[in-house]
Amino acid sequence: MTFPIRKFDAVIVGGGGAGLRAALQLSQAGLNTAVLSKVFPTRSHTVAAQGGISASLGNVQEDRWDWHMYDTVKGSDWLGDQDAIEFMCRRAPEAVIELEHMGMPFDRVESGKIYQRPFGGHTAEHGKRAVERACAVADRTGHAMLHTLYQQNVRANTQFFVEWTALDLIRDEDGDVVGVTVMEMESGDVYIFHAKAVLFATGGAGRIYASSTNAFMNTGDGLGICARAGIPLEDMEFWQFHPTGVAGAGVLITEGVRGEGGILLNADGERFMERYAPTVKDLASRDVVSRAMAMEIYEGRGCGPKKDHVLLKIDHIGAEKIKSKLPGIREISIQFAGIDPIKDPIPVVPTTHYMMGGIPTNYLGEVVVPEGDNPEVVVKGLYAAGECACASVHGANRLGTNSLLDLVVFGKSAGDSMIAFINEQSDWKKLPENAGEFTKQRLDRLNNQTGGENVDALRNELQRTVQLHAGVFRTDKILKEGVDKVLALYERAKVTEIQDKSQVWNTARIEALELDNLMEVAKATMISAEARKESRGAHASDDHPERDDENWMKHTLFYSADNRLAYKPVHTKPLTVDYIEPAKRVY
Ligand code: FUM
Repeated sequence: MTFPIRKFDAVIVGGGGAGLRAALQLSQAGLNTAVLSKVFPTRSHTVAAQGGISASLGNVQEDRWDWHMYDTVKGSDWLGDQDAIEFMCRRAPEAVIELEHMGMPFDRVESGKIYQRPFGGHTAEHGKRAVERACAVADRTGHAMLHTLYQQNVRANTQFFVEWTALDLIRDEDGDVVGVTVMEMESGDVYIFHAKAVLFATGGAGRIYASSTNAFMNTGDGLGICARAGIPLEDMEFWQFHPTGVAGAGVLITEGVRGEGGILLNADGERFMERYAPTVKDLASRDVVSRAMAMEIYEGRGCGPKKDHVLLKIDHIGAEKIKSKLPGIREISIQFAGIDPIKDPIPVVPTTHYMMGGIPTNYLGEVVVPEGDNPEVVVKGLYAAGECACASVHGANRLGTNSLLDLVVFGKSAGDSMIAFINEQSDWKKLPENAGEFTKQRLDRLNNQTGGENVDALRNELQRTVQLHAGVFRTDKILKEGVDKVLALYERAKVTEIQDKSQVWNTARIEALELDNLMEVAKATMISAEARKESRGAHASDDHPERDDENWMKHTLFYSADNRLAYKPVHTKPLTVDYIEPAKRVY
């Protein structure tokens, strides 16, 4: 064998909300569960989620899970799988109450119930009026959730491997997943973690873009690993631009600001969203607001000396409310924009925020791939949850606060599926003879490379390319050029060199390995986007401005080995209710 072996019932790659929720389920079931995390788990990117977690609790106004389902289907521009969406929206109230009982310190309304605020695309009675559905802990909801889940895991004896990263999947001769190769980041030591079941919960990959709300660690590791192991990536053309990143810095300003009454203004002082979304205005879904902002800037009504942003005004709700409900936003605005929102508007631009696509899964968290005529055959032993997975509940565009919900609902569901699968096995499946060989070859190449490409320079070039060629507005020509450029960068990334081999800390090696994953995600994104000849949700093509349900209501699957695309049908059968028929998406 290539590397030392350690055995676990379950290995979870990623210590954010989805990974921790799944781990809790497994550890509480008495299974030997390892969680690997590149950072201390409470620093995972879930910590940055601000505005809330959606659930139709109805604590402020009447709300219903089927209204939540309708909004999610509509938000997805009818690309979301309706069985998975029903599963998530139905379970939302229970998932939030469960977090409350674990100790998550939600804000409260007068009656003592959980505080809820309006958010983009959250409506009552199928779009008639905005509704308060986002359950919030001020503007630090993800932070509170992550700490709550971490503490519960400590109590349940989950084993944490902090500052460890996963490198490659190990599949046996049947294609079943039997483990992963992993690296302790500080020492560079590599191990085989032999497991009965492996879950990826590695979060997003926003770092393929130059401007992103994502943390530096969001390099799409689970996606890269799956792509190299022959698993296709689903719907990678759909990337969400959050309307309100701080201009110039990209840091997230929660949609909760607009939920609390904030409004967007152009250089003429006009509340322009009244023109684009007359019913819900600033609280339309994110793709709609982002495109409206881009259009205002494009048509010369942007603010500032370069006319390159718009303004988010919130001072009119009063200093007291800003301090109690949006304290983090005030701090971010002061630090990153040099303004205090109690007095002045915040300069904002749309910024890459969320990857709707990912590793294909069903609503049980099982990874599914096409085989023969069956578009969804389960890969035994492999699971995914959270942003790295595509269940697909977000379709072509995610609604704000559905991401935290996705983490806990599908984290728990994947955990339950893993428990059932692990309990069926009397022993670990055998590792293949060559387990770890692929990783060894990758590391040998990297360690021995001289005169190769500079990792930093290549990553920067990739980020600028994707930013330019897979942005808010796309054309056939821009996408085609993007494909050519990314394919060329992908080839160059095969000969990256660790320039500073003397480093005490192993950062240079880790960044080179992360770049391999970013390249996989960027390639999948560009090729999938270039192929889709319609506009749907976050994929807006000037050359194909309409949604085309006849030809394009289908999920994209991208295979890295031969840059091949395949397609599979959208699930049109919810679990218990009627199909929500496609309609024009107006807000
Ligand atoms: O705007 C926000 O607070 C972000 C929430 C989300 O992406 O769900």
